[in-house]
Amino acid sequence: MPLDEKGSLAAIVTLDGPAGVGKTTLARNVAEALGIFYMDTGAMFRTLALRLGPGAEQRSAADLLEAGRQWVFSLEGQGSRTRLRCNGDPVGEEIRTEEVGMLASRIAAVPVIREILLEAQRSLATAGPLVAEGRDMGTVVFPQARHKFFLDAAPEVRAQRRLLELRQRGQEADINELAEQIRQRDAQDRNRAIAPLRPADDAVIVDTSYLDIAAVQERILQHIRDKGGLSRS
Ligand code: DC
Repeated sequence: MPLDEKGSLAAIVTLDGPAGVGKTTLARNVAEALGIFYMDTGAMFRTLALRLGPGAEQRSAADLLEAGRQWVFSLEGQGSRTRLRCNGDPVGEEIRTEEVGMLASRIAAVPVIREILLEAQRSLATAGPLVAEGRDMGTVVFPQARHKFFLDAAPEVRAQRRLLELRQRGQEADINELAEQIRQRDAQDRNRAIAPLRPADDAVIVDTSYLDIAAVQERILQHIRDKGGLSRS
């Protein structure tokens, strides 16, 4: 991937943060505003979690490596129309449940799973400028990205947002249960030994607790403009 004269990757925007902070919506909106594609890496972990099934984190590294190699991710379209595919099949709503999120968080602590997806994520990024969202985009996968953001919000606020999101999809949930799931997932994602959730030293931290999506989006776009946009010079 081409570096600019300061040794950074100008055309990569990283958005990291905990569950339910609004990363996917923001990644989609920012990608749309910039006319580039976005990569939802949580969706990649969720897809593997769903295909491997419960208990996958206990399987041997060799077994997981063999299974993981069968699945190839691709991206098509751009902006809000970016679509993730796995072996050519569109990744859809089937991955968007809290149960799959929890399975994804478990397999995300397994080194061989992270290696498989790290390679896939870097390879997808060679196709052009993109917004990469996840937990370790700014720290591990694209440490040289020029534009790094870390989004955060109080767990209760995130649980409330998840509730609304699920309702929009016609699913009901209990707010206290959602808050508990979010706390558990936070603990798992922040405390794992490999690529834990944390802001990169050079990330801009945005607390979204009291901001709506449009305000956060404008803040991000302003920072990107202030740092020279996506051009290499
Ligand atoms: O962002 P999400 O809720 O779709 O992510 C699901 C899980 O996948 C999350 O709890 C941890 C894991 N994940 C990760 O470890 N690293 C990433 N870059 C993205 C997701």
